[in-house]
Amino acid sequence: MTELEATLDALTARFDAAVAAAPDAPALDEVRVAFLGRSGEVTAVRRGIGALPPAERPGAGKVINAAVEALEAKLAQAQSRVELAELEASLGDQIDVTFPGPPADLGYVHPIRRVAIEIARYFTRHGFAVLSGPEIETEANNFDALNIPPDHPAREGLDSFYVRPDRVLRTHTSPMQARAMRANPPPIAVIVPGRCYRRDAVDARHLYMFHQVEGLMVGKGVHFGHLKGLLVGMCRELFGPDADVRFRPSFFPFTEPSAEIDVKCPTCRGTGGECRTCGGSGWIEIGGSGMVHPNVLRGVGYDPDEVAGWAFGCGLERIAMKRYDIHDIRAFVENAPGFAEGLA
Ligand code: DAH
Repeated sequence: MTELEATLDALTARFDAAVAAAPDAPALDEVRVAFLGRSGEVTAVRRGIGALPPAERPGAGKVINAAVEALEAKLAQAQSRVELAELEASLGDQIDVTFPGPPADLGYVHPIRRVAIEIARYFTRHGFAVLSGPEIETEANNFDALNIPPDHPAREGLDSFYVRPDRVLRTHTSPMQARAMRANPPPIAVIVPGRCYRRDAVDARHLYMFHQVEGLMVGKGVHFGHLKGLLVGMCRELFGPDADVRFRPSFFPFTEPSAEIDVKCPTCRGTGGECRTCGGSGWIEIGGSGMVHPNVLRGVGYDPDEVAGWAFGCGLERIAMKRYDIHDIRAFVENAPGFAEGLA
């Protein structure tokens, strides 16, 4: 055996022992660096070629290369062995396939919808039917049937979206009063939640698309007391059992008399002052109401000498903003993650 062969045999023996003792891939890599790395043991042997007996020198490079190839082959084998062992170890982990996975993120009911549902529930408890109507309305239903005169500013193209000269995106849910009455003889008790559209510039208090809920009750002997009683009940349902409600005289072409519905501010409880929710007045207006105008009843074929009725219309964004203390109406349509989370 030549001197070089003896050196390489000893090196290979140490290499084999080191590989056998390496438990994992990082340890194997250390072995690789120690033997085959740039300043490893093999490099040291190459540097020693000049010190070999002269007869061994010419073939030394070849002999070393052959030894290195053998080392590399053993290393590769060892590497796939530890990889396989690691894989097997991980597969051997006890996995309980019946264990429930992480819960899926739940969605939340949008506050507008939540308010609409609560109002619908309240009124259906009192025998009302829930209707929905078209968002594209005839100009006649949106305005004329509601005693809104031809020169009323709401009828201007500047204030309403016309899709045709005689068709408009409904500016309120009130046209459903006419549709509901034309389709049903009295007595009638309905509520109608839905989308409405106005040509408003978007800011913290306005969107061009918003929601209202309309209420209508017509029959023999129906009077303002019914309106008051049911709306006070609705507000207590929405704002809590001690909510105070105020009816403030107002004007709408389709009701006579008419009243705005105010609720005592749920944030400051009516104390006003610096309150941002009510602007300091202690009250918030949530909609309009009144006794259905005789012209409206006549227009749908009801006899105002036989029956009377009341109606109201409330803005759902308004109610939700006051109830949840939201100060910017745009939040309802921005779809920010978590917006509706925690609102009850
Ligand atoms: N439609 C009215 C609006 O959008 C609200 C309204 C007022 C509805 C009085 C009614 C009512 O039914 O009686 O401003």
